[in-house]
Amino acid sequence: MSDKKILITGGAGFIGSHVVRLFVNKYPNYSIVNLDKLTYAGNLANLKDIENKPNYKFIKGDIVDASFISGLFVEHKFDAVIHLAAESHVDRSISNPLEFVMTNVIGTVNLLNAAKQEWKDDFSSKRFYHVSTDEVYGALGETGMFTEETKYDPHSPYSASKASSDHFVRAYHDTYGLDAVISNCSNNYGSHHFPEKLIPLAIHNIKNNKPVPVYGKGENVRDWLYVEDHATAIDIVFHKAKAGDTYNIGGHNEWKNIDVIRLLCSIMDKKLGRAEGESAKLITFVKDRAGHDLRYAIDSSKLQKELGWTPSLQFEEGLEKTVGWYLSNEEWLREVTSGDYKKYYEDQYAKR
Ligand code: NAD
Ligand code: TYD
Repeated sequence: MSDKKILITGGAGFIGSHVVRLFVNKYPNYSIVNLDKLTYAGNLANLKDIENKPNYKFIKGDIVDASFISGLFVEHKFDAVIHLAAESHVDRSISNPLEFVMTNVIGTVNLLNAAKQEWKDDFSSKRFYHVSTDEVYGALGETGMFTEETKYDPHSPYSASKASSDHFVRAYHDTYGLDAVISNCSNNYGSHHFPEKLIPLAIHNIKNNKPVPVYGKGENVRDWLYVEDHATAIDIVFHKAKAGDTYNIGGHNEWKNIDVIRLLCSIMDKKLGRAEGESAKLITFVKDRAGHDLRYAIDSSKLQKELGWTPSLQFEEGLEKTVGWYLSNEEWLREVTSGDYKKYYEDQYAKR
């Protein structure tokens, strides 16, 4: 494999840190530059184990700042971009949609412009990889799955902003010939996940004997994938996909929210030495999310058949590992839940 200089955006976040770690460790001949604004969701503590590796460099910066981004491309002469930086939480997008337009749409277009400008003489040896979500496809009823042919139908401000960014990436491929690929993945879970999303929030609350908020009746269905399996899929798509192609990534692992929470409660009862059923008493049904998508389910057979990817972990096993990580990294959890988190939690849940 030849040497490459790769810009990974959002590498201090949940999925980004797993992708950075995989690339830095697996490809010592690649030079990895992690660009991250370090918002509430970005945390350099996620990358402690690799921060001194010779093929890794961290740069703090904002993808919304167009002149900073174009300067960065001129200075570093990147061969490829793996773009993960985003505002990623649906509930925050309902409270503040504009922030999602800025980072997810404008930020993506700034990166596309810089790549187009810098690579215009030879797109063939360069690659722009955009990491996206299955939420762009909208919501399913009781049956069916999202395929790569499913029409976009986003409902939340988050998914609308990600759908828009996907369209811009395809537009730069179709209009200017930029080598671009996109993957759309289902819900991830695993270590280093900020406790605003369902699974880490529930782990945090169960651990601290606080109510576990379940929206509506807990009947909504999500398709969960272990984050390291997503990172492996990104590695494969980055290296093997044809220019302009799209892949769905998912675990074939649909769960109703209430069943995920019950399973988590039972795992935590065992790990915390509580009587079976003790943690489940914390389950509290709260007001539903506005525009709450009923069901996501992703068909990842194209990725499995064409590029040979398969997820490695069963959900129960992945959840056990995840809970184990949070229980042995109390300091990480304490730090990310101090300060602004308390206000966020109050705003989202106090009157729900
Ligand atoms: P995250 O919120 O944990 O991390 C996002 C990272 O982006 C943070 O480190 C943050 O500091 C950084 N960032 C935010 N705004 C920035 C800006 N303006 N400039 C530079 N950096 C900025 O998100 P995540 O869950 O790791 O998701 C990563 C990507 O994967 C996102 O594009 C998301 O849409 C996509 N995705 C997430 C999931 C999921 O289940 N979490 C599923 C499918 C796709
Ligand atoms: P989340 O982790 O926010 O991911 P997404 O909205 O991107 O799928 O939510 C997963 C599911 O859990 C979703 O149906 C909303 C629900 N949910 C709750 O029931 N309670 C909560 O406190 C949160 C954050 C989510």
